[in-house]
Amino acid sequence: MNIKNICCIGAGYVGGPTMAVIAKQCPNIKVTIVDINEARIAAWNSVNFDDLPVFEPGLADIVKETRGKNLFFSTDVDKAIDEAEMIFISVNTPTKTYGKGKGMAADLKYIELCARQIAKVAKQNKIVVEKSTLPVRTASAIKSILDETGNGVQFQILSNPEFLAEGTAVQDLLMPDRVLIGGDTSTKEGEIAVQSLVNIYSEWIPKKQILTTNVWSSELSKLTANAFLAQRVSSINAMSEICEKTGADVREVSKAIGMDSRIGSKFLNASVGFGGSCFQKDILNLVYIAKSYGLNEVADYWEQVIIMNEHQKNRFSDNIVSTLYNTVSGKKITFLGWAFKKDTNDTRESSAIKIADNLLSEQAKISVYDPKVTPSQIYSDIDYLGTRAYEDNKALLTVSKDAYEACNESHAIAILTEWDEFKNYDWNRIYKNMQKPAFIFDGRGILDKNTIESIGFTYYKIGSGN
Ligand code: NAD
Ligand code: UGA
Repeated sequence: MNIKNICCIGAGYVGGPTMAVIAKQCPNIKVTIVDINEARIAAWNSVNFDDLPVFEPGLADIVKETRGKNLFFSTDVDKAIDEAEMIFISVNTPTKTYGKGKGMAADLKYIELCARQIAKVAKQNKIVVEKSTLPVRTASAIKSILDETGNGVQFQILSNPEFLAEGTAVQDLLMPDRVLIGGDTSTKEGEIAVQSLVNIYSEWIPKKQILTTNVWSSELSKLTANAFLAQRVSSINAMSEICEKTGADVREVSKAIGMDSRIGSKFLNASVGFGGSCFQKDILNLVYIAKSYGLNEVADYWEQVIIMNEHQKNRFSDNIVSTLYNTVSGKKITFLGWAFKKDTNDTRESSAIKIADNLLSEQAKISVYDPKVTPSQIYSDIDYLGTRAYEDNKALLTVSKDAYEACNESHAIAILTEWDEFKNYDWNRIYKNMQKPAFIFDGRGILDKNTIESIGFTYYKIGSGN
């Protein structure tokens, strides 16, 4: 089947970039991204391409090239569903905050609402593609809602999980390691649906990198991939603590083990803990699935990845307090970086949030600088935790537009995101304007120890015992 019209429900960090790239690579397909969030759609339609709601290197250029030609952003969900032959569901699937599975299971209410809306509106056969990350066997729930509440039209459900990482989304979408498509190829209609999606990706991705599996393998592979990636980060972070005690250096250990081709060199950077909207939620979801099948040892095994991650954040803030003579009350601590990684404006589950919260509870004054995160986002992240009154957060935490200003009169600097610009700062100038002794806690290991110490700083580098 030759798809001419695609709709994507959800104009977020996944829906926006993935559909922009499909529109770019398939100029003959009309792609409409819809969302119920009017402000987000308005931002995608901004005249100024710096105001798009998602910052990703290279994304604004693609949106500039395609928007208004074959890429459209709209709040008219029904119209886009009605017109499309293929509908991607790319809405958020956060951890449940209520009821059964609270704090663990994926909240599928947004997915279900989409399925019900598609069923209500569709008057012709549709291919529905799960782009969101979902628990294994969700496709059968979607299918049953569509079939039982629909207008008697035929629906094919495909699983097509997204593997892009934020900060490199455009590159990942243009040159993915693989594309995964799960479908029911035991029926002719299922086979046609799978082939329709294969044809779209084949416009720019070599066929051998387009993998087709059954739906359940595809759904589970997405959770598995994130669990394995997060596990690597927790494993190297666990080693970083041993390095600090023993005089080893975690970067040397990473290099030494990464050169073993069976281990590989990626995802071995010790850090203040992984953040982002997906690792934690997807592992918790996996743990919940394992528990619900009575697989308690499996659940405990994966849960330890999260426990290690929490420990890494807490031990970083504990170290700041103990190094600053066991009190940070009234002291100014500057955070360089708030985003969960460089090259993104996303702050979801960023380690900076938890570390700030811990230090604020010790009555520190925190000054934050991040090149891409807005002050309102920073306040909303810290307020969301509900640890103290909004007014207290406002009084204790300030946000600067300038890194040098953020560091003035500071007792200590904590580097929490690995933004490239931090490496090139005038560290002599920063040192001069700080309280003495001046401390740097490098949670990303990006500065050169000798250079920084020769300026006069007392320097802590994560995972370094020297
Ligand atoms: P997001 O929160 O940035 O975007 C989701 C969007 O869906 C929001 O704008 C929201 O308003 C919209 N939405 C929710 N319900 C809707 C409805 N009924 N109708 C219309 N719009 C609706 O989320 P995201 O980061 O893009 O993630 C989406 C999914 O992709 C999640 O399942 C996530 O696990 C998965 N994923 C995310 C990433 C990533 O890097 N962020 C990577 C791979 C997979
Ligand atoms: C991750 C996966 O890499 C993507 O493949 C997946 O599609 C996505 O989750 C998802 O499902 O949402 P993302 O969270 O955007 O992508 O970014 P990563 O590069 O994976 O980084 C996640 C966190 O781990 C960041 O806080 C990062 O700083 C940290 N990290 C990563 C480390 O601390 N060390 C490393 O070596 C690598």
